[in-house]
Amino acid sequence: MVLKRAPAGLSVNPPRDPNTLSNYNDWRTQHVTANLEVDFERRRLWGGVVLRLRSLTEGESESVVLDGSFLKIEDVKVDGKGCNWSVAGRTEPYGSPLIVKLDGGVEKGKEIEMEITLSTTDQCTALQWMAPAQTPNKKHPYMFSQCQAIHARSVFPCQDTPDVKATVDFNIRSPLPVVASGLPTGSKDFQPGKDGKSGTLLYTFKQEIPIPSYLFAVASGDLATASIGPRSTVVTGPEELEGCKWELEDDMEKFLEAAEGIVYPYAWTTYNVLVLPNSFPYGGMENPTFTFATPTIISKDRQNIDVIAHELAHSWSGNLVSNASWEHFWLNEGWTTYIERRIQGVIHGEPHRDFSAIIGWKALKDSIDRYGEDHDFTKLVVDLKGKDPDDAFSSIPYEKGFVFLYYLEKLVGIEKWDKFIPHYFNEFKFKSVDSYEFKSTLLNFFASDPAASKKLTDLDWDKWFYAPGYPPKPDFDQSMVKACYALADEWKTRTDGHDSSSFKPKSSDIADWSANQSVVFLETIQSWASPPKAEDVELMGETYGYANSANVELVSRYFSIGLGARCKAVYKPTAELLGTVGRMKFVRPLYRMLEMCDRALAVSTFERNREFYHPICRAMVEKDLFGEEKK
Ligand code: BES
Ligand code: ZN
Repeated sequence: MVLKRAPAGLSVNPPRDPNTLSNYNDWRTQHVTANLEVDFERRRLWGGVVLRLRSLTEGESESVVLDGSFLKIEDVKVDGKGCNWSVAGRTEPYGSPLIVKLDGGVEKGKEIEMEITLSTTDQCTALQWMAPAQTPNKKHPYMFSQCQAIHARSVFPCQDTPDVKATVDFNIRSPLPVVASGLPTGSKDFQPGKDGKSGTLLYTFKQEIPIPSYLFAVASGDLATASIGPRSTVVTGPEELEGCKWELEDDMEKFLEAAEGIVYPYAWTTYNVLVLPNSFPYGGMENPTFTFATPTIISKDRQNIDVIAHELAHSWSGNLVSNASWEHFWLNEGWTTYIERRIQGVIHGEPHRDFSAIIGWKALKDSIDRYGEDHDFTKLVVDLKGKDPDDAFSSIPYEKGFVFLYYLEKLVGIEKWDKFIPHYFNEFKFKSVDSYEFKSTLLNFFASDPAASKKLTDLDWDKWFYAPGYPPKPDFDQSMVKACYALADEWKTRTDGHDSSSFKPKSSDIADWSANQSVVFLETIQSWASPPKAEDVELMGETYGYANSANVELVSRYFSIGLGARCKAVYKPTAELLGTVGRMKFVRPLYRMLEMCDRALAVSTFERNREFYHPICRAMVEKDLFGEEKK
């Protein structure tokens, strides 16, 4: 018999995820044990990870290739013995894989245990390390991870693809409290510090549901905990705790129950929220059992916790059923946006669902305008071969994905559609899914229903998946946006240069509005073909309190209107805001606008704050301001 052998480092079977260098079709990670110590002084995680890997071929693959990026690998052992390993050169943007040779391969189904001794480096893209001065109470250092999309490989070598799922044991040693994306199993084993260093405690967590690498998460700092529901806690700095508790405690369990009614019971036992310092680069990150969230959701008005409904929804879409690669990201975010809005509908009524969808359509329009209607990244299913998924990130998978699911709901009728939802999430529970499997599952489910089946098979699937630009615009309920559009129209009479405009703004214009109605009002003004007059922008900021609002959703949109109008009064406050908020949703558009007004101010603001931003945010703004050259 002639044995078929793949050349060293080359996989026998090409993977469906183009954004990993690992040969995950030859080997499959079953379990990860992370034994890591948080070293705040040297700003690194160090220790070891043990990967249990199963061979998927008949010994044809003689090497295990794992993703890695900017890691310092000290040693690799397989089943307790030394082995032949090397780190390949970098392939941007995918990093430098670790190649471990296993002469003769391993029989199909057999498992090996690979122990890797390592430390992270200061080029690690997933971790942010903060000095005490950068934290709210300025007393202790802080660190947190953000692994989505392909940054887990900068924490430890792994099959860094959402197509592979493994259970995880976290054993994290730190001088400060730790959270991780698993259930705590109790902290134990104190070790006193030497040479004036503080002692450390071992914090242990278990994730018994298999998760993809991008959901691996740790954070450590001066953390306190409070209850926000029967199965939920919030963790944050001691001074912020009361405020965070107030913001979340009314809705947390309601969100959980609403989501369970739409899909099926929550699988992860507890749902908790870690509210991070200001530099957290996203609104929220759905790390299992512990959503990581930006402090900008704590706006003291309970108006921005839709982010939590969103991250909670990921407990089903994304965390139990994961997109198989970032090319099918819409299956994570489109489904999650859809469920998030169904939750809003259950709690606040149907008009709220459509209201939120109208805000979403505006976000879709902004993204399509920015890329151009023919751009590849405006497709639902994208081609990411050779690309960095961070570069393809936009509202498109969220909102085009949402519109597609909303369209399907209307097409088959909500009663039937509601039966499909749990079916789909059961079918792919603990698995990864691509758009073609989604399609076939939907068609199969309705195969015995001739009316629905005909509509679904007649659907132009290729157009939905691959046509760039806008999907058909749904007919959303306009009841909650009417007042916002009407007020914007009043302001327009001033802008259009009618000196005769009789409109005199007063604070009572928006007195009974929700913050999101102000968002719609501000976004309507943002979409005008010509900007308002600079003096009108100032008047608006004072009259409606937008200029000094604690709600960053409002203040950032207000500044953006001001920058569009070249209103000098907002330049400095924008630069100040950019030094206190690190959420990319706000940071990137504000830099783009500020650069158009005053490039020198944009550049100096960025240089002053570069250490404040998370590495991912820093890299993206750097690309926005300086192009690809300065890396
Ligand atoms: N999973 C995303 C955040 C993310 C996406 C991180 C891609 C890295 C790469 C999270 O669930 C999310 O969508 N957050 C939104 C919340 C919003 C849509 C309510 C955010 O950060 O703004
Ligand atoms: Zn999301």
